[in-house]
Amino acid sequence: MKTIKASLLFFVFFAALFNSGCKENKKENQSEQETVNTESVKNHIEKSAFGEMPDGQQVDKYTLTNDNGMEIDVITYGGIITRWTAPDKDGNYEDVVLGFNDLDSYFGDVPYFGALIGRYGNRIANGQFSLDGETYTLAKNNGPNHLHGGITGFDKKVWKAEPESTGDGAILVLTYTSADGEEGYPGKLDVKVTYTLTGDNELDIQYEAVTDKPTVVNLTQHTYFNLSGDFSNDILDHEVTLNASAYLPVDAGLIPTGELRPVEGTPFDFTQPKAVGKEIEADNQQIQRGGGYDHCWVLNETEDDFGFAASAYHPETGRVLEVYTDEPGIQFYTGNFLNGALASKTGGTYGKRSGLCLETQHYPDSPNQEAFPTTRLNPGETYSSHTSFKFSTK
Ligand code: BGC
Repeated sequence: MKTIKASLLFFVFFAALFNSGCKENKKENQSEQETVNTESVKNHIEKSAFGEMPDGQQVDKYTLTNDNGMEIDVITYGGIITRWTAPDKDGNYEDVVLGFNDLDSYFGDVPYFGALIGRYGNRIANGQFSLDGETYTLAKNNGPNHLHGGITGFDKKVWKAEPESTGDGAILVLTYTSADGEEGYPGKLDVKVTYTLTGDNELDIQYEAVTDKPTVVNLTQHTYFNLSGDFSNDILDHEVTLNASAYLPVDAGLIPTGELRPVEGTPFDFTQPKAVGKEIEADNQQIQRGGGYDHCWVLNETEDDFGFAASAYHPETGRVLEVYTDEPGIQFYTGNFLNGALASKTGGTYGKRSGLCLETQHYPDSPNQEAFPTTRLNPGETYSSHTSFKFSTK
């Protein structure tokens, strides 16, 4: 479960790859496919216009498909997944993620629907941290705290995109350069996120970043899932499993206290599949602080660095979502702050707990908590984080 790999070789490789915008790679793969059999190579990725930023910059939508019929729409604004279809037990594909049909709806007060989060997933206490004796003050956008990268985090940036069709799926490489000092963070950060839709109904996400000054990084993906395929339902009937024997209790501002608390015998025990609604209203101080579940679970070590983290199962439709990661934590958020104020894609509104998030990440507030695994990234190192979301049915 290591995120930061100090490999100069890899850094050089990454920098070269970054500069070329993956074009060489892409050309190579394409020509390889072309020589194999031009006729049989299906186009698995389509680009269309999605809208315009207030300054006129175009935002594109890429539709990734695979041979089974899964479709994922990703827009260049925030790298947001706006639509994602998954089969039920009868093979019917339906949209299972919260979002909007038009760009303007994403400009309002939207709780990070489907977005890439950076530079830092979740909260940094008092919007402040120190590195090598220097104190950095970050944008505060959550009471006194910094949340999900600040006022204009990576979720609100327009990313560059490089699409690629594969034999049975598609790849979209998104890149963004965050300037030194953006939202208060030190160092110019070059970020690359690779979305790969496989022929196995799996979205593999690889995050990479390099910096020119010591900084902190903690990237994640903020999709809200509703496996029922009907956004007027809540997610309380979803059965969730979390591969975690402990979680991080929080203070009233949802900052981890530093304690790793065993889940056993508490509403936080998801080591066996459990309906989200079973104990979400329990008389428990931590539940009350989160308004439900809004905590980081400490993932158990798995045999491989990249292992099972979580699953969600919707009994009625038979949809199963599994999450694998090499991160040490997962934020399980049950959409407690949704309140029906946002219109849904299908005509209704997004009500309380109409979506659940499984955000793989390092622990919140790590830059201020020495006992937590470090989120520090130095020049010459490559930040690397790997997560996959896999759909099936049972
Ligand atoms: C946080 C919540 C927050 C939500 C939307 C989650 O990752 O844990 O506290 O309300 O994101 O911003």
